[in-house]
Amino acid sequence: MRYANITGWGKCLPPAVLSNEDLATFLDTSDEWISTRTGIKERRISHVSTATLASLAGKRALAAAGLDAAELDMVILGTACPDTLIPNAASAVQADIGAINAAVFDLNAACTGFVYGLSIGTAMIRSGAMKKVLVVGADRIPYFLDYTQRDVSVLFGEGAGAVVLEACDEECGLIAEKLGCDGEGRGILAARDSGTIRERFTGIDGFFDVNFEGPEIFKRAVRGMGQAVTSVLEKLALEPEQIDLLIPHQANIRIIETLAKRLKAPPEKVIVNIEKYGNTSAATVPIALCEALETGRIKPGDKILTAAFGAGLTWGAAVIKWGSRVTPLSECGEELPPSDKTALDILMPWIRGCEAALAKKGK
Ligand code: UT7
Repeated sequence: MRYANITGWGKCLPPAVLSNEDLATFLDTSDEWISTRTGIKERRISHVSTATLASLAGKRALAAAGLDAAELDMVILGTACPDTLIPNAASAVQADIGAINAAVFDLNAACTGFVYGLSIGTAMIRSGAMKKVLVVGADRIPYFLDYTQRDVSVLFGEGAGAVVLEACDEECGLIAEKLGCDGEGRGILAARDSGTIRERFTGIDGFFDVNFEGPEIFKRAVRGMGQAVTSVLEKLALEPEQIDLLIPHQANIRIIETLAKRLKAPPEKVIVNIEKYGNTSAATVPIALCEALETGRIKPGDKILTAAFGAGLTWGAAVIKWGSRVTPLSECGEELPPSDKTALDILMPWIRGCEAALAKKGK
């Protein structure tokens, strides 16, 4: 039997930090509300493109795997925030990292994009069609937000994470998954005019009509991830106690705690980093996976359960059996181009633009 081991991992967080206090300078909100209702203290805002974040995470993952980019058969970029729709953002990653022999594509399953990508990359390797695949989750949801809406604009941050998958014979890598989507609920988490549905000439530039029904999304996130997790554990005939580590999507600390409770997972078995990065959409799971490895929380042979939920409303869960190596083979010395802009410097044109657009709409 052929498996797809995770042999490399890397992440890329842009340096500009947007704190809760920064948000309170232009929104009617507070650190107290955001911390207690979401668990978020700060998030990152990017001065570079989605593809640049994705490429650096990818290069770091390749270094950790000791692999040359030219050896990759495929690059899957899980993102809802491609820099361009035509061509796809994955082609920019291919060109940047030098994956000259790889098929590449963007995969939009919103926050579940990395888990979907991991499933597809693993299936390509297990079928025998490919040997080496790079799976990246990278998102810049803050680009789409309406900075007059205080419920949604405090939740998201920007970043990227990546893993290298390689064919192997012993049982490891993703060993079971359950993916799905509740399309009938797609309207409750939506940038409704973010594609070709948008009137081309409205006279209002750069404003997205975001619909966000927080409490309903919250309920469905708990239900969707809960069902996916139950189903994937059943497939493997595993009891929740047999899971060594839970790496959940980081959307809200209260969603994470509800899931952990359902799985009877004590805090030491749950990876939480939402306080530092907020919800980075498709990037939360690979970033959290990298941090779990960096802090020694993954041991060879561990069974790791991951679960995610996002716009669509997509959802999924997967069990990963970790291989024998938990340290990188080498490191990538590259960094993002420097920037002296603060997060508020980067966001200010968007904040002012949202206010102006709403004034123009008479709201
Ligand atoms: O990756 C998947 C996508 N996202 C999610 O999964 C997010 C899921 N939803 C959530 O995390 C939560 O629903 C939120 C954090 C968005 C909101 O928390 P909540 O406990 O569901 O609050 P709520 O929407 O029921 O609002 C409670 C109150 C309201 O005030 P009133 O009407 O009770 O006076 C809101 O206006 O909190 C108010 N509120 C705020 N107050 C200060 C909403 N946002 C804020 C804010 N600062 N940023």
